[in-house]
Formats: sequence, structure tokens, C-alpha cells
Amino acid sequence: MQETIAFDIYGTLINTQGITGMLEKYAGYHAGAFSVLWRQKQLEYSFRRGLMRHYRDFAVCTSQALDYALLTFGISLSREEKNGLLGAYRELPVFDDVKEGLEQVNTTGFRLYAFSNGKASDVAHLLDHAGISGYFNDIVSVDEVQSFKPDPAVYRHFLLRSSSQPGNTWLVSSNPFDVLGAAAVGMKTVWVRRTSSAVMDPWEIEQDLTIEKLEELAPAIENYRSAHSS
Ligand code: LAC
Repeated sequence: MQETIAFDIYGTLINTQGITGMLEKYAGYHAGAFSVLWRQKQLEYSFRRGLMRHYRDFAVCTSQALDYALLTFGISLSREEKNGLLGAYRELPVFDDVKEGLEQVNTTGFRLYAFSNGKASDVAHLLDHAGISGYFNDIVSVDEVQSFKPDPAVYRHFLLRSSSQPGNTWLVSSNPFDVLGAAAVGMKTVWVRRTSSAVMDPWEIEQDLTIEKLEELAPAIENYRSAHSS
């Protein structure tokens, strides 16, 4: 049976810290810390909205998290400046290893999907801007079920939409909460350890594979298949 790979987008293919340079104009040497807080709050808002069943799309989480970070750092921006930052967020860069990694895995017969908290139109814009949309069969967004990762409903929805079975489907993500969410519904998982300081959550559920660069993905899955074929 053909296998499916679901790629997480923000933080895995797309570098959410790619906005730090632009933030220096407003936050100076705090730009790095500002960018990290912005991302953490964006995710926290998505978790909370999922639990509260108070869905607004991910772009709202991003915008409100930016407001929170601005308040925290005591920075006030004009509407135009804020829109400029949100516009840049819609065109964040991909990590350097992404094109080569997708190119390799594309030749191995997997069906590739983008699977994200982001709305499909926002994800399509990011992938187009990065010149990588051609690698994907489709984009599956949590927006279709009005909840967020790691709600099991969004992973089950992915499996339905892609006509995949959990045992034949890989979730590739740098986000530990995403990896564990997918593993909890029986999907195979690859954690992309994007920095040497990144730590996986020490839970009782674990990822199947760990890689540091996307170029390692195709050989890692191939090795896994050989080791597990009987
Ligand atoms: C995504 C989040 C996890 O792209 O960043 O789904």
C-alpha cells in the first residue's frame, strides 16, 4: 500500500524565526526573545482555543500573539507597521534543507501533503512563495475541522482526507506536541530536531525516528522499513 507523508509547516519547513531581522527595527537586541515569545504565544493561543472550543483561524492566533508580545516588550506600533510584520509572516522563508529533502523523498513514491494549523490559503501562499508547492498532493488544514493540533480530531481528519491508514502514514514535524499528537492516533512519526538545544517532551509516547535535516528523511524511512519488514 502506498505510504503518505504529512509535513508540518510552521517551524518544520518554514522558519518562524525568519522574521527576527525585521523585528530588530522595533525590538533592537530583544528581537530574538520577542520572536520566540510571539511564536510561543501563537501556539498557546491555538491550544487554548482548541480546548475552549473557541475556534478562530491561526492567523488570528498569530495577530493576537503579536499584540501580546508588543505589550510585554512595551513596544507600540502603528497599524501599518503591525500589518507589515503580519505580511512578512505570510512570506516567511523555508529552511535551507527543505528543497533538497523534498526532492529526495519525492522520488521514493510517497504521497506528500502539507498538514498545518494554518489556513489552506495561507499555507498555499507560503509554499508558492518558497517555490515548493509542486511537491505536494494537497494541503490539509485544521481549519476544515475548526480545531487545532494536537486535538486527535485533526489527525483523524488528515487520515480521512488523504485516504490513509495510520500505520502507513508519517507525520514529519519539528514540534514535539505535533509529533506526540500524531503518535497518539497511531501515525508513524519523525521528529525534526531543528537545533541542538531542542528537547523532545519526556512523555510515555515517543517518536519513531529523529533527524536533524530533511535530507536525512528518505534514508531514515528506508532504514526503518527494512528493519521492520518481515
Ligand atoms: C503547523 C504548526 C504546528 O504548521 O506550526 O501546523
